[in-house]
Amino acid sequence: MDLTTIKSMIRIKEDFPKEGISFKDITPVINDAKAFRYVIKKMCEDFYGRDIDLVVGPEARGFIMGSAMAYELGTGFVPVRKPGKLPADVEKYEYQLEYGMDALEIHRDAIRPGQRVIIVDDLLATGGTVSATAHLVESLGGIVEAFVFLIELTELGGRERLKNYDVKSLVEYPV
Ligand code: PRP
Ligand code: MG
Repeated sequence: MDLTTIKSMIRIKEDFPKEGISFKDITPVINDAKAFRYVIKKMCEDFYGRDIDLVVGPEARGFIMGSAMAYELGTGFVPVRKPGKLPADVEKYEYQLEYGMDALEIHRDAIRPGQRVIIVDDLLATGGTVSATAHLVESLGGIVEAFVFLIELTELGGRERLKNYDVKSLVEYPV
């Protein structure tokens, strides 16, 4: 398995979910046992043996990559969810999405001050989702060690938005 093969497995669906969006569908990658294990291990590569307490992933595709990474690294997993889904006390943050406005929430007791966190999602576009996630993590006193993505859309400004952080992605597309 290699990244060229992974890239060939990512399904591109033009004008989905609306006109002008070139959707990157990771389901063929996670459907394939070898490809799924390969991308998770590759996303974990820089973090084995490091002092990482938690992996944090935003709903919904961040749950898929993030919980698998947490299992692989032997850390806990923290879900960041769309409003009204988490039952206990939450911190909320509103943000601009690739298509529209949204908000995300995290359980206030999910991260203790000083805990080291990796934020994981399937894809980095404008960076709105993971910036909001980092805001939530930091508002609880967590330390963001890195952001990790399977896919990066390099012309949408996500990496510039995360310029003070360590950012890792496996596969790039312009948009
Ligand atoms: C997609 C993708 C990332 C985000 C990237 O999620 O999974 O989370 O957009 O865009 P950004 O960098 O501009 O924020 P989406 O909101 O479509 O929801 P889903 O993961 O629940 O499918
Ligand atoms: Mg998402």
